Amino acid sequence: MLENFKVDLQAVGEKGALKGLLQKKFTRELEVSELELESLWTSNSYGLDKVDIFKGSQFEIQKEILKKCALSRLEEAYHIEKAGMAYGGKMIVLGDSLEERKFYATFVSEEAQHFHYLEEILGYHPIGIEQNAFVKLLENLIEVGAKRPLIFIVQILLEGWGLEHYQKMASECTNTSLISLLGQILKDEASHHGSGLVLFNKKDVTLTEKNFILDTLKSFFQMVQVGPVAVLQAIENAKGHLSQAQKITILEQIGAYETTAYKLEILKRLMLKAGCNDMVDYLESDKLKPFSYSEMARAV
Ligand SMILES: [Fe+2]
Ligand SMILES: [Fe+2]
Repeated sequence: MLENFKVDLQAVGEKGALKGLLQKKFTRELEVSELELESLWTSNSYGLDKVDIFKGSQFEIQKEILKKCALSRLEEAYHIEKAGMAYGGKMIVLGDSLEERKFYATFVSEEAQHFHYLEEILGYHPIGIEQNAFVKLLENLIEVGAKRPLIFIVQILLEGWGLEHYQKMASECTNTSLISLLGQILKDEASHHGSGLVLFNKKDVTLTEKNFILDTLKSFFQMVQVGPVAVLQAIENAKGHLSQAQKITILEQIGAYETTAYKLEILKRLMLKAGCNDMVDYLESDKLKPFSYSEMARAV
C-alpha cells in the first residue's frame, strides 16, 4: 500500500527550486490579469438570477457573492486536479503492464497541466478547503484504495461527473481564454474517463472491493444529496446570518432539488454504464435522492 500522498502546502512557496524548470514545461498561460472573478460566470450560471435576496442586494454585494461562487468552483477544481496527480502517480506504480504505466504517465502529465492552469487562475494555494469533506474523502480514498475500486470511483464516476461539471463551466463562462483552457481540460478528462471504462471489469471486483466502493459512495453521495451548499454559503458570507426559512426560500428559488436530482442521476447513469446495476439497486432507496429543503438548509 502506498502512503503519504498528501502535500505540505506551506512548502509550495519555500521549495521553489523547481519553479524555473516547471515554467518551461508549461508554456500555455492564462492571462490572469484579464480575469475578474465576479464576471467569469453570470448569476444565471448559479441559479442566482431567480433568488430574491440576491436580486434585491446592492451591486457590490452581488459582485461579492458572484466572486465567492466562482472561487468555490475554481478551488474545488484545483483540489480535484491536485488529487488527480496523486492518483495517476499511484496508478503508475500499480500498473500491471508497461502499456498501463505509460498511459498513467501521460495521465499524470495532463493532470499536472490542469493543476497548473488552476494555480495560475487562482494565483494562490487555497488552504482552508483542506477541511472540505469532499477533498478529505478524495485524498483518503487515493491513499488507501486498491486498484480496481480506485479505477471505478475516480476514473469512471468522478472523472465522468467532472466532465459534466467542466462542460457546464465552459459553456456558461464569459472569458474566452478560460473557455479555451476548459476545452483542453475537457478533452483530457474525456480520455481519462474513457480509459477507466476500458480498464474496469465489473466481474473482477471482489466482495471486499465492492464493500469498499459502496462505503465510499455512501459518503460521497451524501455530499451531493446536500445540494448547492457553496452558493448558500456565498450568500450568507456576503449578507450575514440567514434564518432557516430564508435558506429554504433561496434553495427553492435556485431550484436546488431539481439540480441535485440531476447530478445524482448522472452518477447513477455512470454506474450503470460500468455494469454496476447491483450497486445502483443497493444505493437507490435513499442515496440517490436529494435531501429535502429543510435538511439541505440545516447542513449549511
Ligand atoms: Fe484533470
Ligand atoms: Fe482527469
